Amino acid sequence: MSVRLERRASAAVVTIDRPDQRNALSRQTVLDLGRLGRELAGDDGVRLVVLTGAGDKAFCAGADLKERATMDDDGVREMLALYESELAWLEQSPFPVVAALNGAALGGGLELALTCELCVAAAHAVLGLPETSLGIIPAAGGTQRLPRLVGHSKALELVLLGTRIDAAEALTIGLVNRVAPAGTPVVDDALAWLSPIIEGAPIAQRAALVALRTAREKPLREGLELERQAYERCLASEDRREALRAFAEKRKPVFRGR
Ligand code: COA
Repeated sequence: MSVRLERRASAAVVTIDRPDQRNALSRQTVLDLGRLGRELAGDDGVRLVVLTGAGDKAFCAGADLKERATMDDDGVREMLALYESELAWLEQSPFPVVAALNGAALGGGLELALTCELCVAAAHAVLGLPETSLGIIPAAGGTQRLPRLVGHSKALELVLLGTRIDAAEALTIGLVNRVAPAGTPVVDDALAWLSPIIEGAPIAQRAALVALRTAREKPLREGLELERQAYERCLASEDRREALRAFAEKRKPVFRGR
């Protein structure tokens, strides 16, 4: 199995486990990620998924270039289709998936991170889309998700020049949300930072996620309508009443997801 799962309370840590190949995405790895993702998406107890790579060299070095060299054109087309079908859960699950970049995120590895909802990087991580230097383009969503995140001009620079940037610059341009302090493992830092999600009101967390995903994909009027519907789900919840009681009683709310 090229992917490992570790439960940490209601968070799941998914680790791509091919450190000797810098966690490159072989066909089997993509299939393993898909199978595990579908399993997690059907598990009501999961509040958050952190996706990372084994070792400290690479989060993911992108497509497995050794395997790619053995594929014909149809084999490569099939891989692109597999990226789409097997990795869709990263941005469609009822929980947010957060990339924890323990090292280099290059090519398909950065595209994987771009598909996640949030991203925390180790200070030594390098990020880039070097595909044009390999005679191809980023085709696992990179040309579409990168400009939406960092703007058109910066995306052009990263893709056309194939520039590799460090974690500090990635933070400055909004490509990552946070850089872990040196000496703190990036997964531990991410989980501590994300504790408001783990401890928060589950119905509100899910409703907010659905509403924000809509903002990414739909026109404003449609988004506002969806926002109202998402609010209705919170309005009817016991968690909302508990938050009001806790405020009045000057204590921390205890959310039960009801
Ligand atoms: N596919 C398959 N194998 C890969 C790989 C990839 N994308 N990236 C690295 N590897 C393999 C290397 O071939 C090497 O294997 P070997 O020991 O059998 O020779 C091993 O991983 C270690 O690679 P190395 O380059 O020595 O590791 P590093 O820690 O010095 O550097 C990277 C790590 C990720 C920065 C570097 O490997 C790299 O730039 N890889 C290519 C990334 C890339 O261009 N991806 C875009 C794909 S579109």
